[in-house]
Amino acid sequence: LRLFSGSANVPLAQEVARYLGIDLGPMVRKRFADGELYVQIQESIRGCDVYLIQPTCGPVNDRLMELLIMIDACRRASARQITAVIPYYGYARADRKTAGRESITAKLVANLITEAGAGRILAMDLHSAQIQGYFDIPFDHVYGSPVLLDYLASKQLTDIVVVSPDVGGVARARAFAKKLGDAPLAIIDKRRQAHNVAEVMNLIGDVSGKTAVLVDDMIDTAGTISEGARLLRREGARQVYACATHAVFSPPAIERLSSGVLEEVIVTNTIPVLEENRFKQLTVLSVA
Ligand code: R5P
Repeated sequence: LRLFSGSANVPLAQEVARYLGIDLGPMVRKRFADGELYVQIQESIRGCDVYLIQPTCGPVNDRLMELLIMIDACRRASARQITAVIPYYGYARADRKTAGRESITAKLVANLITEAGAGRILAMDLHSAQIQGYFDIPFDHVYGSPVLLDYLASKQLTDIVVVSPDVGGVARARAFAKKLGDAPLAIIDKRRQAHNVAEVMNLIGDVSGKTAVLVDDMIDTAGTISEGARLLRREGARQVYACATHAVFSPPAIERLSSGVLEEVIVTNTIPVLEENRFKQLTVLSVA
């Protein structure tokens, strides 16, 4: 077994390597003057079972291209099996056509990864589970929820209501609610006017006097979570926690999340959280 890390999340890959009791494999990554990437695996991997860890987080095009080049390098070096470990699968939100003449980027990325030579995929909390079906190779879809739930349980919160910030996240929120002692569920009816602009419309369920736990797969600009939290406070929630696997944190996420409307923001390290993006209410849990 050989484990290599792309440049997207080296600390996570190092942690995984520590758990496995092995070192990360040696790999050179360079950038040419025109911006092209160069990757070379620096040991023989002929006949090996190779795992490549690379979330395709921002800058997403670079991270994705680096992953493709790593896979291609391993295939051409006669690795027996190549598993792409993609803790955060970028381009996942365009998983179907919602208007004419759009691309389905989640499928396009699946084609690229397969064509490059990956034989197996391990991904975490895909934006939609059906993305697994865009691949015709074995696919392990794992979840950040055990880590998030263990942490929430350790806080011994009372009077919890689990809240889905949109209709698409109900199944995820229901699974959380079940694990949190069959907590009640509430749903925010969110309507979007434009990409990355969330507009909260309506709350289905009762949060009055309760501890609301908002659950989402990712926090990007934090519009969804912060507007959701405001609505929950207006509806009488005592305190609001936010939980998400992927801390995408595009501006102005940090300002929105640290504004005080949220008691705590709990995320995982599928995407590295930069030191300057850490704020008082933030907890980052490891999925290594
Ligand atoms: C949307 O369907 C996703 O599950 C997230 O709610 C969304 O991508 C979060 O984006 P933002 O933080 O920019 O509102």
